[in-house]
Amino acid sequence: MLVPLVAAMLAACRAPGAPAGAPEANPQATENVDIPTLSAPSQRPVVLPVVMPPRHITVDAATPLRPDSAARVAPTVTEGAGFLGRDDEQTLSRLCNAPIERIERNRGGSTVSFRVWFAGGERGLFKPQQRSEVANYRAELAAYRMSRLLGLGRTPPACGRQVPRAMLQRVADASGDAAFSQRVMTELLGRGEQVPGAMLYWVPGQLEPVPDVARYPQLLGDGALAPGDAALAADLSALLIFDYLNDNVDRWSGGNILRPRRTGDTPTPMLFMDNGASFSALHEGLGARPEEQAARIARVSHFPRALIARVRALTLDGLRAAMGADPLGACLSDAQLGAVLLRRDRLIARVDAAIAAQSAEAVLSFP
Ligand SMILES: Nc1ncnc2c1ncn2[C@@H]1O[C@H](COP(=O)(O)OP(=O)(O)O)[C@@H](O)[C@H]1O
Ligand SMILES: [Mg+2]
Repeated sequence: MLVPLVAAMLAACRAPGAPAGAPEANPQATENVDIPTLSAPSQRPVVLPVVMPPRHITVDAATPLRPDSAARVAPTVTEGAGFLGRDDEQTLSRLCNAPIERIERNRGGSTVSFRVWFAGGERGLFKPQQRSEVANYRAELAAYRMSRLLGLGRTPPACGRQVPRAMLQRVADASGDAAFSQRVMTELLGRGEQVPGAMLYWVPGQLEPVPDVARYPQLLGDGALAPGDAALAADLSALLIFDYLNDNVDRWSGGNILRPRRTGDTPTPMLFMDNGASFSALHEGLGARPEEQAARIARVSHFPRALIARVRALTLDGLRAAMGADPLGACLSDAQLGAVLLRRDRLIARVDAAIAAQSAEAVLSFP
């Protein structure tokens, strides 16, 4: 049912909220700069196997549950909470409105971003609209809205905000790094004197890579799960679902699965950060690299029950309302919304097929 809808939406694809016809301040800027333009390895249409539940389901009541199913417990996903247990609305109001006192260049990533200090002491990270195809600021905004809609609370609150281009260029020029200064001059996009971008909540303290994440095929496959791995497995399952729905194609390039640094034994949650390479509507809505994404999600055999319920409940109206809540306007185009729902349908078909083949308890084995 969604395919014609997606096709129609693709035809109407344009940068959401971008005024038509206004000239770019940057002479090299192109139209539709907001739309993720992740290049696919091949421009040929990709035909993927559609996983559908069998029509006739035979449930063998005598089949025992996986021996380790009881061990699949205790994820650190807290449903309905704000980011890191905070009040997101308060955080957003500061990110959107608080006067900026100081800006510095951010380090540690490959794209252009700035650390921001607001009056009153709160901090932020500004990710400006820029050329890089893995740094779409609207995708950052949309990923936060998605994390919130799904009750994950794993993505830092993010607000669309404009910052004067001259302010950013001054910071870059003062950094003493001529290459960075040049990048700010040539790569930032935007109309007029303002550069739009995503103002993210700055996670206080140090961040560290979550260890062992590359073991996800083993942790989420059919083998036994050690009780000590249960929380990591549940987090990874939620992350892979999130990235499949959003079509994030830059999660596994390194440095993008972080958590607040642990001191002692107190666990800290995995954070779903750096989402600028998400929400492509390429390949008729399947995303920028559909084969890669399908192969990754195919390795997940165990899912969080509450998250899957929320994924099932997503609707076009609900998504559109969530994505329209940002002050800079819609974070996603209709084509991108349709693409999320198409991927959702694929994911749910896969989950339902697995449930039909095993049982809900075995498949939805994380809370
Ligand atoms: N919200 C945040 N709070 C604190 N530090 C952050 C935040 N977002 C990013 N960082 C830091 O900045 C680095 C680069 O950010 P990232 O989002 O990964 O951008 P890039 O696309 O350039 O890789 C991260 O590795 C992390 O150290
Ligand atoms: Mg990164």
